[in-house]
Formats: sequence, structure tokens, C-alpha cells
Amino acid sequence: MNDKPFVLSKNINPHFYKVWNTKKSNIILKGGRGSFNSSVVAFKLCMMMYQEIIQGHTANVVCVRENKTNLRTLVYKQINWALTQMNLVDEFDSYVSPMRITHKQTGSSFLFYGADDPDKLKSDKTTDVIGLWYEEAANMKSSEVFDQSNPIFIRNKSECVDDVKIFCSYNPPKNPYDWINEWVDSKKKDSEYLVDHSTYLDDEMGFTVAQQQRLRALKLMTMTTIGIYI
Ligand SMILES: Nc1ncnc2c1ncn2[C@@H]1O[C@H](COP(=O)(O)OP(=O)(O)O)[C@@H](O)[C@H]1O
Ligand SMILES: [Mg+2]
Repeated sequence: MNDKPFVLSKNINPHFYKVWNTKKSNIILKGGRGSFNSSVVAFKLCMMMYQEIIQGHTANVVCVRENKTNLRTLVYKQINWALTQMNLVDEFDSYVSPMRITHKQTGSSFLFYGADDPDKLKSDKTTDVIGLWYEEAANMKSSEVFDQSNPIFIRNKSECVDDVKIFCSYNPPKNPYDWINEWVDSKKKDSEYLVDHSTYLDDEMGFTVAQQQRLRALKLMTMTTIGIYI
């Protein structure tokens, strides 16, 4: 358990303030590895849920990946990581089958689905939805998954929020004709969408440098322990 108070401004690179504060419902985050887009979405969704929880509301967030196998290792871990950083993880229980992370007192949940099971998505009965996250969306087959799933979750929106925030994060494939590149290009001028592009150069807070320093220190420590000095 991390007992240091969580300070948002120390954990979000300024590049992402626009994403954090936008009133738009559809937020696309295009970013290469180490641009922190996944962590920002995870923090934002946890914060959105917590804001509802403290008002005594139940609020659910649905996270979608291309398949079930990649859910556990990535997006589930990412939400748990964000809750830990925010000192909230003890207020939640985690379950693997079906996969969810649930707030003990209000039942508010993060639910995790694979986009390879469209029937499951289509038959979803989750109510009180406040957010939806398509993580690593470039790995999905086509934009059909959004067209099929978004209306279901929007229909089950929580009455306590104005809209269901729909986040879509991805690492852009090199091929400009890849479906996701074309789809995102088509949304750039759509006033309902915010399209953000980040790279590792947007790491103004130096998280990557700090991480590398920690790794180097750890390596040095291990080597010293086994009698190797560099
Ligand atoms: N606020 C932060 N403080 C410390 N480490 C962070 C922070 N945000 C992200 N990280 C770390 O940086 C790594 C990369 O972040 P991530 O958001 O997954 O990048 P991307 O999705 O762009 O590849 C993660 O392993 C995470 O542990
Ligand atoms: Mg990522």
C-alpha cells in the first residue's frame, strides 16, 4: 500500500490536461509506447468512478480489449495499478472470472470484456455506465466493434452523469491505410471527438527517466549483492 497522498498534477504529464478536462464524449488517444496514454486513461476512469462513489452513486466502467487473453495481463493490471497509485485499491475487490474490480461499499465496478466475443458485448446488461475504454484498439478487427457496442453502453448510462465518456487508446500502425488510421483521420474534424497524439517526448514529468534510474539502481544493488561492482 502506497501511503503517500496521491497528487494528480504530479502523475499526469501536462500534455494530457486537455484530455483530462475535455467536455467531449469521445476521446481518442493515439500514442506510441511510453507516451503514458494508457496510464492517463486508467487514472481518469478511476477518478470519474471515485467522484460518483463519494456522492453515494453506483457507477460502472467497461474496459474492452481485442480478446479475453489480453485482458488480464494488460487492462485489468492497468486499472489495479492506477487504483494502487491513488491509494484506493483497498476499497476494491478484484475477481478473475468473470473479470471485474468492484468497489466494496457501492458495488461500482470495472468490467472487462474481449471484443472477440461480440455476443457477450451485445447482450451486456450493465447499468449505471459512466465510461467505456477500448484499450489497444488497433488490435481490434474494425470500427464495427464501436458501432455495435457504444449504443448498448450509452443506452445504459448512469442518470448521474451527462454522458458516457468513451476512450479509445492505440499505438498507431505504420500503414496509413490500416483501418484505425483511416477511422481516426475521419474523426479529426468531428466536433464530438477529441483526437490526441502523444509520444514519449511528452513525458515532461520524467516518469520514464525515473523508471530507468530505478531499474539501474536495482541492477546495481543486485550486482553488488552478488559481489559484482561496476
Ligand atoms: N504517474 C506515473 N508515475 C510513475 N510511473 C508511471 C506513471 N504513469 C505511468 N507510469 C509507468 O510508465 C509505464 C508506461 O506507461 P503507459 O501509460 O502504459 O504507457 P503507454 O500506454 O504509452 O505505453 C507504465 O509501466 C507505468 O508503470
Ligand atoms: Mg499503452
